[in-house]
Amino acid sequence: MKKATIKTASDIALIKYWGKKDEELRLPENGSISIKLDGLDTITTVEFDESLSADDVTIEGESNNEETARVSKHLDRVRKLAGTKVFAKVVSKNTFPKGTGLSSSGSGFAALTFAAAASLELDLSERELSILSRQGSGTACRCACGGFVEWLDGDTSETSYSVSLQNVDYWDIRDVVVVVDEGKKKISSTEGHEAARTSPFYQARLDGIQKKIGQMKQAIEQKDFMTLGSLAEKEALEFHTILLTSEVPLIAWYPGTVEVMQAVMSLREVGVPCYFTINTGFNVHVLTLPEYEKVVAEELGKLSLVKKILLAKVGPKPQGIDQHLF
Ligand code: PMV
Repeated sequence: MKKATIKTASDIALIKYWGKKDEELRLPENGSISIKLDGLDTITTVEFDESLSADDVTIEGESNNEETARVSKHLDRVRKLAGTKVFAKVVSKNTFPKGTGLSSSGSGFAALTFAAAASLELDLSERELSILSRQGSGTACRCACGGFVEWLDGDTSETSYSVSLQNVDYWDIRDVVVVVDEGKKKISSTEGHEAARTSPFYQARLDGIQKKIGQMKQAIEQKDFMTLGSLAEKEALEFHTILLTSEVPLIAWYPGTVEVMQAVMSLREVGVPCYFTINTGFNVHVLTLPEYEKVVAEELGKLSLVKKILLAKVGPKPQGIDQHLF
């Protein structure tokens, strides 16, 4: 049992996963498409150690019972595959604020899965790693792949996995991540997924999603940035409509979120190609092309409610690294 460290990029969904048809297996109601984000990374070291009497989990320098329980439950899945009961030490850190709607659980559980499998020297395919990652966190299913990723909408655990539509070098798109708050988001995606069905618009969303996935795949294939951006922005607004109209309304946005959305639209009016998308948090992803990254970051950085800007580009699949965290 060796010590293994994995670096995994987070991702941003262009077509969002929202609602589950199987809670325990984390089977999504619909397929989704994302871009991996180099610059928003999780690094995780795992070592299984016979001398431990329980899993020892440290995330961002802290140990917390709730997080340890979720990590242990996931390690059990990996242990089962390897036929071992040995506990593990896990240390993990992110290069971006966690719990703020920037998909830290996606990169976190993909990194954990890959590092645990490597530590136990399990020989798993990318598909098997994606399926395993999915059971820890839905978005981790996509984070197991690199570049432009599609999570296939299978009805069983074996058919619900992700594939790379295009690899990391295919098309240079930038994501200017605008942080308006670093506090923990108020909406947990678990409660949100459950509430989705209570929105009167949810069925209409599901009815139209296949068409949208097809259009997004075509935009990627044709490297048509304007179509990709405007589809992603409309999709984000549709997704937030579901949140807003759930039986218990879920309002993810902060005043700073709206300030950024409006500024992105104003930038477009003066010819800067940029489009926003937002997950269950308040921070905003702004997609743009490399030659406009600087102006987008500068202009959005001037807004009164913006705390900081992070720059990301298309990211690779999980990588093993030698710099262990312990
Ligand atoms: O993986 P979860 O349960 O945190 O779900 C997150 C879903 C969204 O981020 C809102 C959309 C997506 O596809 O990433």
